[in-house]
Amino acid sequence: MIVGLGTDVLEVARMASELRERTGFRDAVFTPAEITYCEGMRYPALHYAARFAAKEALFKAVGANAQSGMRWREAEVLREESGRPRIVLHGSTRELAERLTVDEVFVTLAHTAELASATVVLESRRESGAGRQRG
Ligand SMILES: CC(C)(COP(=O)(O)OP(=O)(O)OC[C@H]1O[C@@H](n2cnc3c(N)ncnc32)[C@H](O)[C@@H]1OP(=O)(O)O)[C@@H](O)C(=O)NCCC(=O)NCCS
Repeated sequence: MIVGLGTDVLEVARMASELRERTGFRDAVFTPAEITYCEGMRYPALHYAARFAAKEALFKAVGANAQSGMRWREAEVLREESGRPRIVLHGSTRELAERLTVDEVFVTLAHTAELASATVVLESRRESGAGRQRG
């Protein structure tokens, strides 16, 4: 059953200016694997923006807020050989998902030159999911 749903959209130009102007932003928000992928692309800000949207969507899906102690790098967007993205959770975010009985996290990304978006679905295969839907 679905125990969480989240979505987010953001402007690529805003991400580009954050990356340009805020020292430490990139390393505080993105993991080394995410940075390697984005920096290897022709327009890195596009891919950073999509990954940022995925993190926001994940936080909405698990019902996190600023007080939950969740960290950006605890929701890591990796890539399968086909190009399909997947999210790996770490630390307190992983623990929160475990409390919600999440067995699988589904994520999809999309971007244009102006906008990036992501949607996350949390699935529980256990009999009584403790989650709730958000988005
Ligand atoms: C994979 C594909 C769907 C991406 O679509 P797109 O319009 O080029 O790009 P979008 O902005 O919508 O999505 C890009 C994201 O798709 C995701 N993606 C890439 N390959 C994927 C795959 N095999 N499965 C799921 N998601 C995939 C990635 O997360 C990518 O973002 P990232 O590079 O930052 O990680 C597209 O390239 C494709 O292969 N389509 C197959 C159908 C086709 O060939 N159509 C053309 C004939 S009309």
